[in-house]
Amino acid sequence: DVMVDIMGITNLQEQVREKLGIKKVVVVPRNCEDDETVLRDVAKEGSEYFLSVLKDGDKVAITGGTTMLEFADSVKTEKKFEDSLVVPARGSVGTEVETQSNSITARLGKNIHSDYELLHIPDELGEDAMRTLAQIPDIRRTLKHITETDILVFSVGRADVMAERRHLDENLKKEILDSNAVGEAFGYYFDKDGNVVHRLSTVGIDLDTYSKVKENILIFAGVEKVEAFMAISEINKNLVLITDELSAQKILEYK
Ligand code: G3H
Repeated sequence: DVMVDIMGITNLQEQVREKLGIKKVVVVPRNCEDDETVLRDVAKEGSEYFLSVLKDGDKVAITGGTTMLEFADSVKTEKKFEDSLVVPARGSVGTEVETQSNSITARLGKNIHSDYELLHIPDELGEDAMRTLAQIPDIRRTLKHITETDILVFSVGRADVMAERRHLDENLKKEILDSNAVGEAFGYYFDKDGNVVHRLSTVGIDLDTYSKVKENILIFAGVEKVEAFMAISEINKNLVLITDELSAQKILEYK
């Protein structure tokens, strides 16, 4: 019966929240086995939470990937956030155009009727290139806005999947995976306990900024990401998690 189901989800949310010690957990009931449908439902729930906290004037940063693409597409509002600004939380990764942080930033900006800025640079840069590019006024301005993020929306990736997507060279990939990395977010690779085991030289949000953002919204669907998520959940307890029922149950079972 529906009431029992709702009670079940509410309990699950509270148990997961308590286990992780984070701000809030929203669990989306899993009514089918189709992963794409589940991802869409979770992204939709994420977009509702996002719109419930978004205030005009907020600076929003968003990462890339398929989860964020679904999220940005499901944000629907008549309200115009004319004083807000959306920025990519990172530079370009891999070769997929649609799932670039830049593309998603533009979609989200349009959907909330706000301004947005893009970062037309690769996410991984050598230190020298980074120093040089950071002097270009447009880039400098956007990088500064990233450090002033009020709301960060992001997902987490498995270390092996992200190393592939970033086309890291085989030696580096091996080195990272040998150091027991399980998850990646914004160019940091984390082990099971949330220790940074490798940091790529990337532009965009860093852990220092991440620790200061008021509203961190992490959206993920799929049990294969639970381990990666558990690692990142150690870094900052000021976190709102939106996920699916099966993943929530796995989080509870996780040792
Ligand atoms: O940047 C990539 C995300 O952290 C994970 O990507 O949503 O495509 O699984 P995804």
